[in-house]
Amino acid sequence: MDRIAPTEHPVLPAIAARWSPRSYLDTPVTDAQLHAVLEAGRWAASAYNEQPWQYLVTRKNVEPEAYAKLAACLVPFNQGWIGQVPVLMLACARLNSAGNGKPNAWAHYDAGQASGSMAIQAAALGLQLHQMAGFDAAAARAAFNIPEDVAPIAAMVLGTPGPASALPEQLAQRETAPRVRKPAKELFFFGQWG
Ligand SMILES: Cc1cc2nc3c(=O)[nH]c(=O)nc-3n(C[C@H](O)[C@H](O)[C@H](O)COP(=O)(O)O)c2cc1C
Repeated sequence: MDRIAPTEHPVLPAIAARWSPRSYLDTPVTDAQLHAVLEAGRWAASAYNEQPWQYLVTRKNVEPEAYAKLAACLVPFNQGWIGQVPVLMLACARLNSAGNGKPNAWAHYDAGQASGSMAIQAAALGLQLHQMAGFDAAAARAAFNIPEDVAPIAAMVLGTPGPASALPEQLAQRETAPRVRKPAKELFFFGQWG
C-alpha cells in the first residue's frame, strides 16, 4: 500500500514514499534488502564520525527466539499491531566516545540519523520501517545483555506494508487517515527566530 506524502515542494521519491504502516505482510525481507537498509544506516553522518549507533537485528524466520524476546519488550499497543512482520530491530546508541571515553552529546542525534537513512532506503525498496518509542528499554537491556554505556532508543519493524483492512477498525482508520505535517513556517525560521 502506498501513502505518498502530499509535499508542498518536490522531494526525492523515497522521502515522499516513506511512512509508518502498522499492517505488514509476512513476506520475508530478502538478505539483499535487509543489508541495503542496514548499509544506508552505516553511511549516515555523525559527529566526529563516531558512528555511535548499534542495532540488534532479529529476523522472525532466522532468529525466532531473539525476535520473540524483543517483541516481548514492546508495549502492549505495539505488540498488538506488529503481527507477522519479518524483521524486528532495536536501535541503540553508544553513549561514550570511542576516542576519549567522554559522553558523546550527539549519540542519540546520530543514531536517529542512521535510522532515518534506513527508513528512506526501505521506502526506496518498496518496504517500510516503522520506529517505536513504545518499548521497555530496561527489559531489552536485560534480555540481550546490552552494556550500560549503550542506550536502547527505539524498536523498529521492517517489512512489506499490507492492507489496512487487516487491522482492527480503529487502527485501520489511522492507517488511511490523511498524512499531516506542521506548516513549514513553524519549523524553519529564515534570518530570525520565530
Ligand atoms: C522515535 C519514534 C517513536 C515512535 N513510536 C511509535 C510507537 O511506539 N508506536 C507506533 O505505533 N508508532 C510510533 N512511531 C511512529 C509515528 O507515530 C509516526 O512516525 C508519525 O505519526 C508520523 O507518521 P509517518 O511516519 O507515517 O510519516 C514513532 C516514530 C518515531 C520516529
